[in-house]
Amino acid sequence: MRTHAKARVNAPVPAPPHSTAHASTHAGASRELQATRARDALVRAFERVIARPHDIVIGCAHGRVNLIGDHVDYAGGLVLPIATPETTSVALTAVRGHEDHFTSDFAGDLSWDRYARGVVAELRACGIDVPPIALAVASDVPVGAGLSSSAALEIAVARAALTLVGRTMSPPELALLAQRAEHVYAGVPCGIMDQWCVAHADPNAARHDAILLDCARKQHEVVALPATLRIEVIDSGIRHALRDGGYAARRRDVFEAAERLSRPVEELACASEREVASLPAQLARRARHVVTEVARVRAAVDALRGGDLVRFGQLLQESHASLRDDFDVSTPEVDRVVELAMARGALGARMTGGGFGGCVVVATAT
Ligand code: GLA
Repeated sequence: MRTHAKARVNAPVPAPPHSTAHASTHAGASRELQATRARDALVRAFERVIARPHDIVIGCAHGRVNLIGDHVDYAGGLVLPIATPETTSVALTAVRGHEDHFTSDFAGDLSWDRYARGVVAELRACGIDVPPIALAVASDVPVGAGLSSSAALEIAVARAALTLVGRTMSPPELALLAQRAEHVYAGVPCGIMDQWCVAHADPNAARHDAILLDCARKQHEVVALPATLRIEVIDSGIRHALRDGGYAARRRDVFEAAERLSRPVEELACASEREVASLPAQLARRARHVVTEVARVRAAVDALRGGDLVRFGQLLQESHASLRDDFDVSTPEVDRVVELAMARGALGARMTGGGFGGCVVVATAT
């Protein structure tokens, strides 16, 4: 188990070591380093097929950490993610011939190119004339850690390809295209949270705010985090692959619960306690998570806006318990990281993202 802080995402004002300067310097350095690595890798791997060596374009995108509101986006719920300083960079250029060529520095994960190929295919399907390309990826967004390495890759590929052909897309269009690519080419029936957050995070911004995203309406508002709140991300070291089936199974449970209650899935979060109790035991636990998690996101935003950090921390704790006990997506290692963070005086800590391993988000007061 690794318990080092992987990233510190906000901390807007006070002096180091809790300053924004940390996050923004990290973000800028990460972006430049990954872009250089991607460009070098591209030339190294594909020099012979590159048609116009001077036309190498770069697309960048940040990872994200979800502060609260997990496993509710595909049920049209509310979520509160924030972009992280880590970035993925894609270097891309036109090649001679008819084939696309892909390379990356993702150690061990050979399926990453499905996400990249999916985005290129979706762009072409939208009538965007992307020529045969060579593409290289460099990233310091940890893979399989619940920090949206997939969405960062998808959005970086889309940005690079659009730059190559001189086209643009709005962030909502980009997010929906990337989500389609993930559904169809990677086989992960994800919600919209990751792609939306990543597509709306300006890759050149020094720092980012959290966003409260209404996944049913596909609208968000910015939520500034109090200066005295420090958000850290701790990596359990346990890796997940959302393609493994647990994610899709939880999603199926949620849809089945809604169907049994004769509610559109977007209205499952409004189910009464009596309705939830009428479901078979496992579906009742899944539905209870959705109902209570969406309520917690609302309460968390109120707490942040009111400067009530203690309440915010409690809500993170409750969210973790719900994901662990009702949604069954935590692991003993992740639970242990949460316990250790609390023992060290955190206000709250919870698993973040899809679960089955990955990272813990920790809130402390500075
Ligand atoms: C993954 C998915 C998201 C979301 C989270 C859990 O990150 O890609 O759509 O469902 O899991 O909140």
